[in-house]
Amino acid sequence: TSPLVVAIDGPSGSGKSSTSRGVADRLKLAYLDTGAMYRAMTWALLRAGVDLSDPAAVAAAAERVTLSSGTDPLAPTIHVDGTDVAAPIRSDEVTGSVSLVAAVPHVRELLVDLQRAAIADSDGIVVEGRDIGSVVAPDAQVKIYLVADPAARAARRAAENGSTDAAATEAALAARDQIDSTRTASPLKKADGAIVVDGTHLTLDEVIETIVGLVGERS
Ligand code: C5P
Repeated sequence: TSPLVVAIDGPSGSGKSSTSRGVADRLKLAYLDTGAMYRAMTWALLRAGVDLSDPAAVAAAAERVTLSSGTDPLAPTIHVDGTDVAAPIRSDEVTGSVSLVAAVPHVRELLVDLQRAAIADSDGIVVEGRDIGSVVAPDAQVKIYLVADPAARAARRAAENGSTDAAATEAALAARDQIDSTRTASPLKKADGAIVVDGTHLTLDEVIETIVGLVGERS
């Protein structure tokens, strides 16, 4: 029988990571951050000096990158060729380039294969990203599309980054969402059957509680 899969998709800064980890912890499920995988791929290609504006070069170089993800929601890990990259994948340089790399179809094929393997290996998992309910796990028992107002998302992200420039943060999130939702390969969108959860006026615990309740109804 296939493991319980909870797919949590949504735009940048909607609170997907904190929410997904909280849901996984509450339900004793594994946790996979697919955004961290696209970020780690981007970090590896930048380090290798690959021209990220050349999709063919990106696709070829991506073949040579070995990623591994640890799925403990309390201590998720991400490695590239054995190197712990949890910190550098959050740099502005990676954040500014990741959407370019994620738009390359062959990169997506490689990472979707890894994501499906992690799901199959689990005894139940919360998977967060942009295309989990639509492409990676279309048969997921629970699909959530987590949204929040742009200003709320920017305020949250600016606080996480210790930045005081909420306007610049909002512009950066909007730029990334624009690329992510208009690309040809697996664009960000609400999957068929996904339930929209709007976190704008909810606390993190309330969002987690809402999703835990939905999982209870549907699994
Ligand atoms: O979730 P996070 O903001 O870390 O994701 C970083 C980037 O990775 C996104 O802006 C998007 O370009 C890409 N991504 C994706 N598909 C996923 C997860 C992330 O294209 N499933």
